[in-house]
Amino acid sequence: MEATKVEDVVGDFVNLKRRGVNMIGLCPFHNEKTPSFIVSPSKNIYKCFGCGKAGDGLRFVMEHENYSYPEGLRFLAEKYGIEIEETATSQEAMEERQHLDSLFVLNQYASDWYADQLWKTDYGKSIGLGYFKDRGFREETIRKWGLGYAPEKKDAFILSAVHDGYSIDRLKDMGLANQYGRDFFRGRVMFPIRNLSGKVVAFGGRILAKDAKAAKYLNSPDTEIYNKSRILYGAHFARTPIRKEGKCIVVEGYTDVISLHQSGIENVVAPCGTSLTPDQVRVIKRYTPNVTFLFDGDAAGKKAALRGLDMVLELDMNVKVVMLPEGEDPDSYLQNVGVQKFNEFIEEQGKDFIFFKTATLMEEVRHDPVRKTEVIRDVISSIAKIPDPIKRSLFIKECSVLMDVEERLLTNEINKGVAKKIKEQKKKRTTEALPDPVGAEAEAEDLAAAITEKEAAAKSKELTDEFQEKDILRILVEAGDKVMDEESGMTVAAFILSDMDELLPEFDNPTYADLIKACLKEFNAGRTLGKNFFLHHSDPKVSDLAVNLITSPFDYSYNWDEKLQMPLQTQEKPEDNFTKDTLQSVYRFKLRKVLKLLKKNQSRLKDAQAENDMSKMMGLLKVQKKLTDMKQELASFFGSVIL
Ligand code: CTP
Ligand code: MN
Repeated sequence: MEATKVEDVVGDFVNLKRRGVNMIGLCPFHNEKTPSFIVSPSKNIYKCFGCGKAGDGLRFVMEHENYSYPEGLRFLAEKYGIEIEETATSQEAMEERQHLDSLFVLNQYASDWYADQLWKTDYGKSIGLGYFKDRGFREETIRKWGLGYAPEKKDAFILSAVHDGYSIDRLKDMGLANQYGRDFFRGRVMFPIRNLSGKVVAFGGRILAKDAKAAKYLNSPDTEIYNKSRILYGAHFARTPIRKEGKCIVVEGYTDVISLHQSGIENVVAPCGTSLTPDQVRVIKRYTPNVTFLFDGDAAGKKAALRGLDMVLELDMNVKVVMLPEGEDPDSYLQNVGVQKFNEFIEEQGKDFIFFKTATLMEEVRHDPVRKTEVIRDVISSIAKIPDPIKRSLFIKECSVLMDVEERLLTNEINKGVAKKIKEQKKKRTTEALPDPVGAEAEAEDLAAAITEKEAAAKSKELTDEFQEKDILRILVEAGDKVMDEESGMTVAAFILSDMDELLPEFDNPTYADLIKACLKEFNAGRTLGKNFFLHHSDPKVSDLAVNLITSPFDYSYNWDEKLQMPLQTQEKPEDNFTKDTLQSVYRFKLRKVLKLLKKNQSRLKDAQAENDMSKMMGLLKVQKKLTDMKQELASFFGSVIL
């Protein structure tokens, strides 16, 4: 498949931006905020530096669309109008393809059959078509969505299907026949469910009798070609409008999707008879980070609104919620008020999920302090799931007002949650095997290169960090063995030294860097860093410096404070302030170093780009990602400080 252009193939699924000779975008295979997904048209490959996925156009559609090799080939062949040589594929691959094809064909056959029942039989016309028309669906809409009717008779469909050559086992596999070999869908109006490329993969059938004891909807089971938790109803028609609008609306029912599309609101999808899953949200995220949920205006709708949406926050989406008026669903409300009022309503009522949740929960517990505490905890855990620190701090502000809780208090609690999450993720990251050892090696090399190369000229002109470095060391010597977090037993030294090796090359004073190195060595060997370690160190450089640090008056540069908002600790603090101040200065210190590294790396990236050096760029992008992560992590501890 040399004819396929990787940028064309990938471009159908990922928003790519040109960067010099390459293109870059958000990786569709993992969750990220900073693009590390590169497409190189000249090499005709893509590669993600976050998760390591790489390959050509074919590989991409196989991974992304879950295609087998022959399916992927065929997808590309269709896209480019190429004939593929059947002999080129293995026997096994061909059989697999034919098998899956036959399943799609069967589903299309069923879809056509149900539609014929609807349009061409008397009972279909009067019962099925009548029902859809009563609901306000126009004929063109009914055709567009391929709606149909399954008659009451217990074997109408299977008789026809078997007559046309489909085996009963195959019908059972597809959930079109039940275990007894009778029709699975009977006396229902039919909603074919399509995958992203528009192929029918399943059905939903709605019962017509009002008093029926049977389920209102019957849905196809999962099959070889249908995975409920991945498919969104309407996505095939909605994908382009979603991208165009920069927003996706999620409703609960098939009929809501159809009704909104019919009125020209086409960026709408629904889950298929289940609640929304993370996989479905990931599908939406390929097209937009903005999602609005429309919930039916009843108690159940409200509960549904609060359940399950934290997961969407975690995926770093902008989540809005709209509750429809009592007794309405999107379909009925739209038909009641018309499309203009409907749009206005969504615009005005759309509340950020967190506010919606907070307000709704608080309403119930306003006068119940015990339950109020529970609510606060609940809201805190939601906010802690938002990966973006800036967004988090905005939510904290608003929610502190809504719940009448001090903002500071909320920030503290949420930061605890965030820190815990970061720790867990870190653990996970280090235990997970890296998918691409060559890339990992390159990364390490580049990281080392990026942080050891000192830009001497630039440095001499800049203010140095020496005062800050000294301040950090002073804290380390004075209080290294103090426990700063009762719960985890974390010491000041552990806290200061975490990630410090990354920052060492950025130290302006080499003697200070040496001392930190010595500390790291000691600390990594499992020993505590009390005053004695420093004062009685075998290396006179270390002991001298330590003595100096704790006996000399504190240095202070006014510049630091004013220009950089980095106050030094100029005097001894009362004990209870110690931890807070330590936290602040260490985080600020690290953040400053990381920002410096980022800046340098950025300019290196530019150079590499100018030189058109793909492999160097890729390495630097990895470094960039790592630093950005560190920055994010550090920044998150400043709550409302926007960087
Ligand atoms: N659903 C289901 N099984 C049920 C009830 C509901 O799978 N027994 C799913 C269907 O996907 C349905 C969605 O939940 O589309 C929303 O349910 P509901 O609002 O009751 O259905 P609508 O599609 O809105 O149908 P209608 O307006 O015709 O009542
Ligand atoms: Mn409904």
